[in-house]
Amino acid sequence: MAHARGHFTSRFGFLMAAAGSAIGLGNIWGFPTQAASNGGGAFVLAYFILAFLLAYPALMAELIIGRHSNANIVTALSTLSDRPLLRRVGGMVGYYGVLVVSLILSFYAIVAGWILAKFAAPLMQLLGFEAGAGWLAQSGLVRDLSACFVFSLMTVWIVARGVSQGIEAWSTRLMPTLAILLLALIVYVLNQPGAAEGLRVYLLPDFSRVLDPSLLLSAMGQAFFSLSLGVGTMLVYGSYLGRALSERDRQDKLPHIGATLTLLDTSFAFVAGLLIIPAMYVAQAQGIAIYGAAGELLAGPGLVLQVLPSLFDNMGNAGVWLAMTFFALMTIAALTSSISMLEAPVSVVTEKSGAPRTRVTMMIGGIIFLISAIIVMNFAALFDGVVSFTTEFSQPLLGLALCLFAGWVWHRDKKIQALAAQQGIERQGIFWRIWPFYVRIICPLLILVTFMQSLRV
Ligand code: ALA
Repeated sequence: MAHARGHFTSRFGFLMAAAGSAIGLGNIWGFPTQAASNGGGAFVLAYFILAFLLAYPALMAELIIGRHSNANIVTALSTLSDRPLLRRVGGMVGYYGVLVVSLILSFYAIVAGWILAKFAAPLMQLLGFEAGAGWLAQSGLVRDLSACFVFSLMTVWIVARGVSQGIEAWSTRLMPTLAILLLALIVYVLNQPGAAEGLRVYLLPDFSRVLDPSLLLSAMGQAFFSLSLGVGTMLVYGSYLGRALSERDRQDKLPHIGATLTLLDTSFAFVAGLLIIPAMYVAQAQGIAIYGAAGELLAGPGLVLQVLPSLFDNMGNAGVWLAMTFFALMTIAALTSSISMLEAPVSVVTEKSGAPRTRVTMMIGGIIFLISAIIVMNFAALFDGVVSFTTEFSQPLLGLALCLFAGWVWHRDKKIQALAAQQGIERQGIFWRIWPFYVRIICPLLILVTFMQSLRV
């Protein structure tokens, strides 16, 4: 039996869910150190420009295909053309996207599990469970598997509740909480010795580094990963911007919504830097190493699982609260991203099979957890390989395919008719004059260049 499709109930709800999908670990542990090491304020400026010139139009391709087709990624891509061959290729691209997003979620849930454990450890300490706190703080097979399982369960629980009751309701609660926690931490950290040096490194522009092509390309890669492009999460969220919203909100303008989303994502990455980089220099002022073997500022797990925990340990009681607040922030950022990743395969299977959402969500969540468990148990052999296969190899290719579909397969006339049918869109505006050319020519070329570049390094 077919079930009614879910939908977002308001533009705000959609924005919170989509911003939640985009704002994740990448914004917090990737962007700030990349900016601080590569020209500070100049890099931040270049990143903003690239995000709007390059990632935003690709994001629009996903939102527009999703909203037009009102379906999951597989159905959407296999119905864009009338030609049988293109329909088949569209379906295959859709299934590849589903596979890739499921694999991304399988490693993301492992990392989110570490972070969840780092949040629970100081909480246990505050509650007086010292032994439990010690166990949670130390990485180990059982701890990593248990933490990943709990995080996966949280993701499944929210997605099983549906688009408006689960994804929208929880994103609407969690995203403002995330913003408050971030601001509170920034205020605290900026008042610690060493923070001013961090601010200087982060913001002082050095334009000599910023025109380095490989740097611009890596900034573009970061923008694509951050906006979760290519794997259909934004496409399926766009498909839930259905008629309910248009009837209620006649001012709904997709290009404005996409631009707001890009602005929220880039601004959050920038503001996260006001916490992360000063915190690293506060740590340095306390004798903690913040540079790696090659003299680079630490990023990723080294930053979040070594530098910052050492800093919190040095800060006594305040450090326990700080650790809890910081890892709560990271857990929220990861959770609002992971629900969007799980929604992509869940929407395909529920819509194709007609099976109830709860059952499908539990089944797919279970399979993805099993993949996570296999990776945890064979960490050295699998983890890095899965990360590069999905984010470095597959995501650019899928982004390319989606732009080709939006620009070439979906015939322009049909596209214009579809756009006309979507209420409130300013078809004559500058966006609609530039965008079609962009997704046809510029976007595929740029993604291809990035992809070739990534193969060389
Ligand atoms: N967009 C998510 C992030 O940046 C996946 O972490």
